[in-house]
Amino acid sequence: MSKKPLIPPSPSAEAYRADEDQGEVFTGNDPLALFLDWFDLARKKEPNDANAMALATVDPDGAPNVRMVLLKDIDAGGLTFFTNLESAKGSELAVRPKAALCFHWKSIRRQVRFRGPVEPVDAAEADAYFATRARDAQIGAWASTQSRPMEGRFALEKEVAKQAARFGLGKVPRPPHWSGFRLSPVEIEFWVNRPFRLHDRLQFRRAGEGWKALKLYP
Ligand SMILES: Cc1cc2nc3c(=O)[nH]c(=O)nc-3n(C[C@H](O)[C@H](O)[C@H](O)COP(=O)(O)O)c2cc1C
Repeated sequence: MSKKPLIPPSPSAEAYRADEDQGEVFTGNDPLALFLDWFDLARKKEPNDANAMALATVDPDGAPNVRMVLLKDIDAGGLTFFTNLESAKGSELAVRPKAALCFHWKSIRRQVRFRGPVEPVDAAEADAYFATRARDAQIGAWASTQSRPMEGRFALEKEVAKQAARFGLGKVPRPPHWSGFRLSPVEIEFWVNRPFRLHDRLQFRRAGEGWKALKLYP
């Protein structure tokens, strides 16, 4: 007998009425400042990884691909994350340097989406971030041929031991195949849960040096 997955039913009217109505949470007209405001709240409320975001890319056949990465920097220039350049995402971005990012903070029931072109960060920036990683994570970046088939966990552990022995007590340099990307947003959308699925959405589109704000139907 097949077991049905325990997918929650659509909320009842009572459940919707009990939903917290967060009211007006779209403050100001600067999307970066608004994101930082929301992120600050998410950092306090999320049990872990408030900086985790889904990164969507497109493969050479035009098929989308998505996975989580960690936001490591954000400023007017864009959002930065780090990865293995020879991974699926690295190869996809090398061919089609455009992407989308999506944060979903369950604890505060908010979502933020970004779309835009992506550029590699420069070597100095990648070196500076790599230097802040724990030594074992630095060794891991050398040991893992990310996204390629692995015989088993033992193969990875053997490679970790080999790389650890290679560097001994010395500094672990950044591998040439490991660096970062920065997405410069041309579109940013803020979404907040409201009762009865009548959510609020605010989209910003690049307009010259500034942004044009648009409310969207939920
Ligand atoms: C919360 C979370 C954060 C992650 N952060 C990163 C990251 O910053 N960089 C990275 O390369 N992979 C990260 N990963 C692993 C990726 O989701 C993915 O498994 C890996 O990068 C291979 O993706 P690809 O084959 O599409 O290139 C993270 C996974 C999770 C669940």
